[in-house]
Amino acid sequence: MSRRVPQAVVDEILQRTSLVQLVGERVQLKKAGKDWKGLCPFHGEKTPSFTVSEEKGFYYCFGCKAGGTAFDFLMELDKLPFPEALRYLAGRAGIQLETQYFAEEAARAEKGEPLYTLLERTNEFFRRLLREDPGAEAARAYAARRGLAGDLAETFGIGWAPSGWQRLRDKLHSASVEAREALDAGILLKREEAGPLSWENLRDKFVDRLTFPIHDARGRIVGFGGRALLDDQQPKYLNSPTTAVFHKGKLLYNFHRARKAVAEKQAAIVVEGYMDTIALWRAGIENVVAPLGTALTADHARLIQRQTGEGGKAIVLFDADPAGRRAAFASLETILAEGLDPWCVFLENGKDPDEVLANEGKEALVAQIARPRPLLAEFLRHLLEIHSVHEVAGKLGALEEAAPVLSAIRNGVQREEALRALALALSLSEDAVRSELRRLGRRPARGPAEKSAAPAAPRPASFSGAERSLLSLYLQSAKVRQELEEQNVLELLSSVPLQRLYSVAREAAATLAGERGLALLFDRLGEDPTAAEALRAILAEPLGVPLDDEKGLAEALADTLQKLRRVQLQLQRERLRAELQEGPGSASQEDRPQLLRQLLDLERQLRQ
Ligand code: CTP
Ligand code: MN
Repeated sequence: MSRRVPQAVVDEILQRTSLVQLVGERVQLKKAGKDWKGLCPFHGEKTPSFTVSEEKGFYYCFGCKAGGTAFDFLMELDKLPFPEALRYLAGRAGIQLETQYFAEEAARAEKGEPLYTLLERTNEFFRRLLREDPGAEAARAYAARRGLAGDLAETFGIGWAPSGWQRLRDKLHSASVEAREALDAGILLKREEAGPLSWENLRDKFVDRLTFPIHDARGRIVGFGGRALLDDQQPKYLNSPTTAVFHKGKLLYNFHRARKAVAEKQAAIVVEGYMDTIALWRAGIENVVAPLGTALTADHARLIQRQTGEGGKAIVLFDADPAGRRAAFASLETILAEGLDPWCVFLENGKDPDEVLANEGKEALVAQIARPRPLLAEFLRHLLEIHSVHEVAGKLGALEEAAPVLSAIRNGVQREEALRALALALSLSEDAVRSELRRLGRRPARGPAEKSAAPAAPRPASFSGAERSLLSLYLQSAKVRQELEEQNVLELLSSVPLQRLYSVAREAAATLAGERGLALLFDRLGEDPTAAEALRAILAEPLGVPLDDEKGLAEALADTLQKLRRVQLQLQRERLRAELQEGPGSASQEDRPQLLRQLLDLERQLRQ
């Protein structure tokens, strides 16, 4: 939101930039009708699906869905930050920029930049020690024993954090690094938490461990994982603490190396940790990533989804023990909610991939991974195993567990199929399952019986003021988009076109801030005229808050969310009332007391 170069200048730069010429310097383009086509530089392909439109001023790849303006092109391909892309394109276009803007950007960049440099230098230090240091004998032996030698160690940047608690500290000190920076980078710790910040009060965070550098999506080192060398050294793995650039929930180990293969295969294999990732890589499987000791988050799934597109596969590869299965099932809802297709592999005998590779060899590992199973079906089967589904209580238990998973399925047909499978397995009618899911307060799969109750897609799209305001804020403010990252916005929107508009905008969030972001959005909504029309209607109305008024925006957002949540509660109340009324589809006698309690609870919330 702090872009200070006037929009008019940015527009002028884009006006004077020939996108075809700019792209043509990197990609061989051929004329195709009004547009140009070539092999996409963002993913490997043999037939061209990368299109450039001079007229519209943007490019789009039908394969990997990369798209944007000249700015996006440079920022993505050359990893340039926006100001640099701006500087470069302004230079090409012969436009003078005010220097004040760059002074501010430079000051900001200076804050973030040294962190990356420092982490990079630290990694070089660790790697050199592993190769050369006399004290690293045991570490080298351990690395070799685990297969982390030679090219593989190079590829993964494996190093050794020295013993002694202060070798890195002394190294950084003598290299005139700021103590504050070293602390902020998460590579040193304060000896006494409350003590003063001085070199004496700092010590190494990673001590006598094998180090795995962790990169962000752009391939910059943002932190480390450290493996203990001895069995009794605790904890077994140590990760960087959260820093300005290291957030476990948003990072996947190996993502930057895997992304190309993930896009090509339209699938990512998700394993549990560092060694498993490397094991698959050794077996020649490159589309492999791992969370950093946490459960799979929505951000993780989204990272994958951006590479594969909607419907790409997320294949979780966990141990076959109960813990591994639980972890796999726990990821199911997240995977579905991000529009990915969930698959799983459970390795036999409870082994992890690294052990299979070491004990049984490459072929055995590859063979097991080549036969993934649909995770949703596994999950449903698992529900039948753990609940005694011959009894009503067991059926309800299974339904309760299935509810969030079923409602996370984005594709209506798939949702319907899952519902049918579940009904069959529980020997219940589909209607009973549907109404039970509804009772559980989730968005149920839509059946023909209930078309009239659920708002059908109106034509043209109709929406409340609050919905309009929410979408408008979301589309125009990056700050709002960030705020809403973790929230289930879909459930607040009442109609399919609005949900679709939001989903597409969310997928394109990275390009929304780009100068032609909205044009691009229209383009992607192409097949859905109702959603495109809703978008036009939303944009036609003024936002009512200046975009640079952070406080005003936050208030408007809070206000809007509150209104929409209220609507949700009212809808829920209507459903409950309907169920409590006599007639077809009404609740059974034994359910009534509980439904009544829920209703009273809702009434109370609505009165507040
Ligand atoms: N992990 C962690 N902290 C721990 C243990 C595990 O962060 N104390 C994370 C690591 O990312 C690790 C993953 O969880 O890679 C899986 O843990 P585990 O299965 O215990 O380790 P392995 O990957 O099998 O490692 P190794 O083969 O070295 O024992
Ligand atoms: Mn292991």
